Amino acid sequence: MTSESAVDVAATRARIATHLVGRERELELTLAAVAAGRDIVLEGPPGTSKTTMLKAITEEWGIPLLFVEGNADLTPAKLVGHHNPARVLREDYSAENFVAGPLVEAMQQGGFLYIEEFNRAPEDTLNTLLTAMADRQIAVPRVGTIVAKPTFRVIASMNPYDNVGTTRLSTSVHDRLNRLAVDYQDAEAEEGIVRLRTGAAGPLGDRLVSDAVAVTRATREHPDVRQGSSVRGAIDCVLVAGRLAELRGITDPLDDGYTELVYDAMILALSGRIHLDESVDSTPEVVLREIWEDHFILLPAAADPG
Ligand SMILES: Nc1ncnc2c1ncn2[C@@H]1O[C@H](COP(=O)(O)OP(=O)(O)OP(=O)(O)O)[C@@H](O)[C@H]1O
Ligand SMILES: [Mg+2]
Repeated sequence: MTSESAVDVAATRARIATHLVGRERELELTLAAVAAGRDIVLEGPPGTSKTTMLKAITEEWGIPLLFVEGNADLTPAKLVGHHNPARVLREDYSAENFVAGPLVEAMQQGGFLYIEEFNRAPEDTLNTLLTAMADRQIAVPRVGTIVAKPTFRVIASMNPYDNVGTTRLSTSVHDRLNRLAVDYQDAEAEEGIVRLRTGAAGPLGDRLVSDAVAVTRATREHPDVRQGSSVRGAIDCVLVAGRLAELRGITDPLDDGYTELVYDAMILALSGRIHLDESVDSTPEVVLREIWEDHFILLPAAADPG
């Protein structure tokens, strides 16, 4: 690699970093992989910057980002494309009446094909994808060979907590991919994200941001919870709480009713985002009440025993 391209990648990284709160390491590693011409699987729970990071990279490169969701319905034909049946009846098969699927589109446009929940896709679909990745071209019957532009990449994502309806990926699949584990960011970074996405400011806004992030993070630690909420829950909690504060005439975190207001916002923003362990006999509302009590009643009392 010449020093000139090294400078390029570094400058690219600096520009992309302005779209992200933190994530320097993940951005650097992902960028290194895609700049090296490699495909990669990002493994992590929902809401951990995967899409944000890929959008920032593809915008910087000026190439499309195409999304597909991996599920049992993602057949090879859906991924690759199909011939328009009405036109085939009139005109017979031709390259002109082929409707490109996301894989062919990404190859032709030199874009990133982002397959979310990659491990939910059927095995024959995975095989089609792996062939396209290895050969950088694909043979489409009655169309011909589609050769990928140099910036074509496959980025897959997987949720490590997700074990319902997923394919156990074979070791031969893993052997063909680079992998980066992405986890939740620390509280400070999450507060930065929530401030950025909500515009919350001032004494009430600041307090809402730190409380929302704290209780959202607590959903990930609660013993009854299999998977807690991502930072998306904290963002919504702050947005909802802001409106509730207006409705209830609360303007300061020291006002009466502030902590109940946070509880109500938690119910709206978090109860659908936490997934309880199948073995426990509880509800999201009960779990959230416990988290709320720990945060607002037990912990402040422990910190201030006088
Ligand atoms: N590092 C970050 N900097 C700025 N915003 C972020 C960051 N991480 C997450 N966000 C914000 O949090 C939300 C979720 O992030 P994102 O969509 O990137 O997650 P994801 O990993 O793609 O999730 P999923 O797996 O569910 O698709 C978005 O609103 C995004 O703007
Ligand atoms: Mg995403």
